[in-house]
Amino acid sequence: MSFSLQNFLHLSICLLLLISFANAQNCSDCFVHSRASYYPNSDEHGTDHGACGFGAFGATVNGGDVSTASELYRDGVGCGACYQVKCTNSDYCSDNGVTVVITDQGSGDHTDFILSEHAFSKMAQTTDAAASLRSLGVVDIEYQRISCSYPGKNITFKIDESSNYPSYLAFAIYYQQGEKDITAVQLCETQTFTCKLLQRDHGAVWTSTSPPSGPLSIRMLFSDGDYADDTWVVPVNNIPQDWKSGAIYDSGVQVN
Ligand SMILES: *[C@@H]1O[C@H](CO)[C@@H](O)[C@H](O)[C@H]1NC(C)=O
Ligand SMILES: *[C@@H]1O[C@H](CO)[C@@H](O)[C@H](O)[C@H]1NC(C)=O
Repeated sequence: MSFSLQNFLHLSICLLLLISFANAQNCSDCFVHSRASYYPNSDEHGTDHGACGFGAFGATVNGGDVSTASELYRDGVGCGACYQVKCTNSDYCSDNGVTVVITDQGSGDHTDFILSEHAFSKMAQTTDAAASLRSLGVVDIEYQRISCSYPGKNITFKIDESSNYPSYLAFAIYYQQGEKDITAVQLCETQTFTCKLLQRDHGAVWTSTSPPSGPLSIRMLFSDGDYADDTWVVPVNNIPQDWKSGAIYDSGVQVN
């Protein structure tokens, strides 16, 4: 009796594993249906004033293929996340669509994404089709989160211009690869190893009033939503003691 129950459980687990394996293999099921529009501006890229606080980086990262997100903005946690977005009109749209990085928040007429004009046009098969898509304004799409990739780049800290040395430190995190979210950040003083958790100020910007003096290490918690897999990433490079507003510091590490 107990033996057959065990067999039954074993079989059930195998079936479950098989089913989830099959689902993982079939990513046409991973796409979510939605709508997207675009924001026209002179250079077709994103905006320097995106809600994520990336500044000019938020307009031009990923070749200007950037987007606002509405729900997917997730109070700033979604900043820097990458999505494959493809429109579904087979007359105009390419199979692969475009890969965009979230750099701003915004919502339109039942849209999840307001793409840069550059990204919106890239969903089309041809330049003529792109013109047709743009004249539609809002299109049906499918999207899925995908891994971000920045070949040759490490995670980089940009000291925000709002910083005021030495009493107020604000910085944004650039070039975050992979598919995980940064859900917490610790600022550590590297001589005493005292660390404190920082507040997410807005978007991808973290702040500290009265940061410790001395070289600083900015540690980031990467999460895929499963707490068991949360990982602290410790940079190789410190932020120098005399950090400067507006400066860019390479962390010396990258994630996948
Ligand atoms: C993937 O899922 C789609 C939609 O459910 C289905 O049409 C297709 O046959 C599946 N492909 C594979 C390889 O299982
Ligand atoms: C990234 O970090 C590695 C290891 O710390 C370093 O060798 C490399 O020069 C860095 N890359 C850039 C673009 O700074």
